[in-house]
Amino acid sequence: MLTRISKDIDKAAELLMKNEVIAIPTETVYGLAGNAYNVVTVNEIFRIKERPQTNPLILHVKDIDQLKENTLEVPELVCKLADRFCPGPLTFVLPRSSTISPTVTAGSQEVAIRIPDHKMTRQLLGLLDFPLVAPSANKYKSVSPTSARHVLNQLSGKIPYILDGGRSSAGLESTIIRVVNDEINVLRLGAVTIEELKGFSKKVLLNIIDQVSFPGSHKKHYSPKKPVVLSTNIDETLKHFSKQKVAVLTFKKLNQYIKEEATIVIDLSEKGDITEAAQNLYQAFYLADELDVDVIIAEKFSNTGLGRTLNDRLERAASTLV
Ligand code: TXA
Ligand code: MG
Repeated sequence: MLTRISKDIDKAAELLMKNEVIAIPTETVYGLAGNAYNVVTVNEIFRIKERPQTNPLILHVKDIDQLKENTLEVPELVCKLADRFCPGPLTFVLPRSSTISPTVTAGSQEVAIRIPDHKMTRQLLGLLDFPLVAPSANKYKSVSPTSARHVLNQLSGKIPYILDGGRSSAGLESTIIRVVNDEINVLRLGAVTIEELKGFSKKVLLNIIDQVSFPGSHKKHYSPKKPVVLSTNIDETLKHFSKQKVAVLTFKKLNQYIKEEATIVIDLSEKGDITEAAQNLYQAFYLADELDVDVIIAEKFSNTGLGRTLNDRLERAASTLV
């Protein structure tokens, strides 16, 4: 199959209406999208992504009305959060209505649902009379794509079309929450931070799904092909890899030792801006995979705000903590 990359939104809508699976841009990462109301299409997404059917898919809707159409009850606190963060990188786990097939939710009575904030994808959703299911547009367990080229790297020849919306502005997946009474349970750390959520509830609990068969919650997920080593002291870690070609992913100002010892340094943000580092992390993983290096050494972030999400992704990608 020939995979086309284009900015033509009408063409994307036409393919989705024919129940084809295509890649779409979102502000978090690119999604592998299809008609959520067509079970054959939904199954096709699992097949293309090589993802077990036990891992549910996120539903993408155009607005709060479409969110309500596909869920049974929307708690007051979810409405407040939606007012603040939607469209945006916050996903709610809510009781699903009968419009949503259990194939989408892997048998669960709940559906994960969000309103993406990307101009082209919002336009696209506006042209459709069905919501889209869209897991990240990568093969199961590898790095989420943040550009059309990354999608091509993962799914070339497997899908007919990639809607090119440029680089994803957040660069990290959405934060997934379940609201229980006045509590917010965080199931996956993401682009909306714990600190931001704390403005809405005194009880923000980390309830990251770790052992169960949900992706994004497995160890060794989000991983590039090259081994990743997470480091709290790059100078020290480099000493263990003196015979290997090393790519260092760094955030802080570089010292001379690192410049001399590393084969390649990828600066996630020259300014030391955490939002920019988040935008660049997955791109750096894709880049390091293409470069002539044996190992990727990544510097751990301080564990607050987006740094907490970045550390979560680095830990899942890493094979060794030094
Ligand atoms: O930012 C994002 O969320 C991106 C873009 C494309 O929207 N999507 C994304 O999808 O990251 P995916 O499938 O790669 O990760 C979705 C996560 C998985 O860990 C899945 O297990 C969890 O959401 N999930 C989906 N439905 C769920 C449900 N009903 N209950 C609990 N977790 C759910
Ligand atoms: Mg994913």
